[in-house]
Amino acid sequence: MSNQGVNKGRRNLLIGATSAVGAVGVIGAAVPFVRSWAPSAKAQSAGAPVEQEYSKLEVGQQITVEWRGKPVWIIRRDKKMLSSITKSEEFVADPASEAEQQPEYCKNEYRSVDPEIFVAIGICTHLGCSPKLFADPGSLENEWLGGFYCPCHGSKFDLAGRVYSGVPANANLEVPPYIIDTASKTIIVGEDGGA
Ligand code: FES
Repeated sequence: MSNQGVNKGRRNLLIGATSAVGAVGVIGAAVPFVRSWAPSAKAQSAGAPVEQEYSKLEVGQQITVEWRGKPVWIIRRDKKMLSSITKSEEFVADPASEAEQQPEYCKNEYRSVDPEIFVAIGICTHLGCSPKLFADPGSLENEWLGGFYCPCHGSKFDLAGRVYSGVPANANLEVPPYIIDTASKTIIVGEDGGA
């Protein structure tokens, strides 16, 4: 991955330390402090990119940052979680992500720039509720492979945010534009360019 397109000057403008908006869906006991950067109110209202440092994000941990007024999840996935995505392929409605619910560089099996890092807008594509992460197989129901469940009307998504067939939602979770700056271990949500 290259670091091209990362605007250092703009990054400085964005700096403002806050705590993460939320952190749920953790596998394992130890939860590291994950530093979160948020833009100023002025920058936020202008739709400025949001930076999130992810070096301490552990497997199965989910953090949420706000971008353009929307919750954006960042989740670290391991091989087990990635293999559940492969297994869920036969059950999802749009396995190849044909619908335009992600940038072109995330139109792949894992719907991500880096398979280990999943970035998605945490809004159900049915009527806008917030799906919950049930990462472990069997954690929602016996045959559950791991994924997201929306309690409002029962929509289900796999760990790549692909919607299951036969549920109220009819589109995969939206993936926002983002860049991963591997040098600083930072994700910049709202910058278009992949990695
Ligand atoms: S809003 Fe999620 S299933 Fe209806």
